[in-house]
Amino acid sequence: MTEFLGTEDTILFPSCMDANAGVFEAILTKDDVIISDRLVHASLVDGIRLCSAMHDTYKHSDMDHLEQKLQMFQDKGLRLVVTDGVFSMDGDAAKLDKMVELCEKYNAMLLVDDSHATGFIGKTGRGTHEKYGVMGKIDIITTTFGKALGGATGGCVSGRKEIVEMCRQRARPYLFSNTIAPVIIAGVLKVLEILSATTERRDKLEKNTEYWRKGLTEAGFILKEGDTPIVPIMLYNAKLAQDFSKALYDEGFYAIGFFFPVVPQGQARIRTQISAAHEIHHLDRALEAFTKVGKKFDILHKTKQEIIGKYGM
Ligand SMILES: Cc1ncc(COP(=O)(O)O)c(C=O)c1O
Repeated sequence: MTEFLGTEDTILFPSCMDANAGVFEAILTKDDVIISDRLVHASLVDGIRLCSAMHDTYKHSDMDHLEQKLQMFQDKGLRLVVTDGVFSMDGDAAKLDKMVELCEKYNAMLLVDDSHATGFIGKTGRGTHEKYGVMGKIDIITTTFGKALGGATGGCVSGRKEIVEMCRQRARPYLFSNTIAPVIIAGVLKVLEILSATTERRDKLEKNTEYWRKGLTEAGFILKEGDTPIVPIMLYNAKLAQDFSKALYDEGFYAIGFFFPVVPQGQARIRTQISAAHEIHHLDRALEAFTKVGKKFDILHKTKQEIIGKYGM
């Protein structure tokens, strides 16, 4: 993992949830502050709760707001900025180039959970730090082996060697729980070998994603902006999201609705995820089904206000 991510060292955990549960308490004290994006993954929220450092947030991807918070906390011992690399519900990427710049300017550390990026984001699939040209500049990367790396479970903290060493001595899920199963490691090592030998799969995924986003947009759906394989279709109303999902299922497609409390109130959606295993004819068939269901609920080529006007928030 260290070589793949371009970091100094790595420590393994049974899951990324465990990595996130262990890392904050291992490296921070009550004299420090964590400043996190408001949309970070639940496992980061829980890890932050488990440590004694002060916690504050900045508006999603709002770099001016992050800068204000960094200025505000210059009196703290350590400042740790926390973000997802690719946000799990919205599919947009954190502005890591700008974040690295701000962290350098205000003497802060940066932690990126790259679970939704490791293996396929960036030209050779190393992650969001590769996409933004800041490999080697992220203090801490946490990630899962359970998504693109195919392990179904497993995770790690990778980054500066002193930080990894502190996790080895102090991260409770590492010290007080069984480690990751050897069979998972064997699988992940093989996947890393395959991903390092060729970018064929991530290139195909990128093309599929472009095709899917373009097809849905032309069909008249409202998407969350972004260029990652997480493609959310905005429906705003929770019941509509569930009914839409059920109608898609009847058409042969399993795409679940997300609604409060998984996403903020009034932001219900269908989250679609594209895979390198999809072929164009799969995507065409899916576009047909999504369009049919979109027509049935009369939400195509409508504005957000029109959809909310018809279905409520
Ligand atoms: C951003 C992010 N971090 C952490 C996790 C947890 O990963 P794991 O399943 O390895 O515990 C997930 C899983 O959904 C995730 O999306």
